[in-house]
Formats: sequence, C-alpha cells, structure tokens
Amino acid sequence: MKYIVGNWKMNLGIRESVALARGVLRELRGEDEAPEVVLCPPFTALSEVRKVLARSRVRLGAQNCGTERSGAFTGEVSVAMLEDVSCSFVTVGHSERRTIFNETDDIVRKKLSVAMESKLTPILCVGESKEERDADRAKEFVQGQLAASLDGLNIPRSKPVFVAYEPVWAIGSGNPATVAEIIDMHQFIRNEVLRLTNKDEEGVAVLYGGSVDEENAYQYLREREVDGLLVGGASLKLQAFGGILRAGIDVIVAQQ
Ligand code: PGA
Repeated sequence: MKYIVGNWKMNLGIRESVALARGVLRELRGEDEAPEVVLCPPFTALSEVRKVLARSRVRLGAQNCGTERSGAFTGEVSVAMLEDVSCSFVTVGHSERRTIFNETDDIVRKKLSVAMESKLTPILCVGESKEERDADRAKEFVQGQLAASLDGLNIPRSKPVFVAYEPVWAIGSGNPATVAEIIDMHQFIRNEVLRLTNKDEEGVAVLYGGSVDEENAYQYLREREVDGLLVGGASLKLQAFGGILRAGIDVIVAQQ
C-alpha cells in the first residue's frame, strides 16, 4: 500500500479547504487502484472537510495534537477532539513544531503516546538538519529522535507505526533528497523501528517528505522502501497534488 498525505500547514480558509478537498475527490473518481490519501487541513477546516470526505476513501488527518486528552490547556486541541471530528491520522513532531515551537523529544513522545492510545494513527516526523547531514551525522540524529519517541512506548497491537522521514533541509526548499539518500535512510529507519517496537514489517510504514512535487513523486513511490509521501506545498495546488496522486495510481498499476 502507498500513502499520500497532504499537509496544508497554516493555509486555507474553510471555503478554500472544502474546494480543494472536493477537487481531490474528483481526481480520484473512477480510480479503483488508488493510493491511500490523507488530507490534513488546518484545525478550523476539519469539520467542514470531514463532510466532504464522508463516504469517500480519503481519510482526514490533523497536523498536531495536545499531550493530554482534556483539561486546562488553553489553546490546545486534544486527540479526543480529533476523534470527535473523525480524524484518522495526526502528524506528530513535524520539524516546524520542533524548531519554531520548541517541541522537545519529550513533548513529541507524549503526543505520540496519547495518539497511540486514541483511535488515531500518529505519523511521527523525524529528520536531520543540513549541519547534521554535512557532518555525516544524519543517521545518528534520526536514531536519537526515534529512540526518544519509541523506545519502551506502549503501542497497541493493532496500531501500525508510521514514520515520515523529512530532512529539514529538504522541506519547502525545492531541494528534495535523492532516491538513493531516501532508500538508505528508510532502510535504517525501518530497522530501527523494528528494533525499538514489537512490530513486524507489516506494521511499519516509512513515508518521505520534503519538496515532493508532481515531477519527482513517481521516482520515490516506485521504490519498495517508500511506503508513501508527506506533501506540503504541492498539496495546496490541485494540479500539483493531482499529479502526485496520478503518480501513485501509476505505480500501483505498474506493480500489480
Ligand atoms: P514541502 O513540506 O512538501 O512543502 O517541502 C513537506 C512537509 O513539511 O511536510
């Protein structure tokens, strides 16, 4: 199975979100062999986008969640609230959360933990900065992020572990990682997740994110090591996102 996740970040109002979600459904209409698509609109649009996606195969996701299920946490949105609005996925530890909002490994682990125990499937985002890659410490760094989040974590048997490898230098830069870099890191991540958790291969999915567009999506998706893509900028434009969905469909058909 291949996954394509659209992370709309802090963009789009309710009307635009609904229009984009409708457009995505149009792109998938009549396609029997489509990837699993997840749309992550801003919180304010979740409720309306949910209505558009109802009775479709496209899943709803959130971009973040609080560390607790409820309580006196002004401004936070909990996994219970995300369940309530029918979200199936939530991204946790995105590099923008880590760097701009100072989310530590400890906070990311708490969010992952509360999401693991909810009805949602968390997508844990990891990835090294340019300095770490240049110093040949990318794997060491990613290993640290994975261990901090997953080591000893209580993961329900039925719940898969999704990790998005998003090198910080590739996000929004127009400078994506190469296929070789991605395969190498995805193998490493998969092995680390298998070592740190009680999962088998079936229960682990590793996605790539960072300057994915309609031109490069196919070359990533056709790789066995790439279970899917986490798309930022290109998920906001229907033409580009439609091209990425098309790449997913083409890969599935070609690999049958
Ligand atoms: P990008 O963002 O596709 O715009 O590089 C990816 C992400 O931040 O998830």
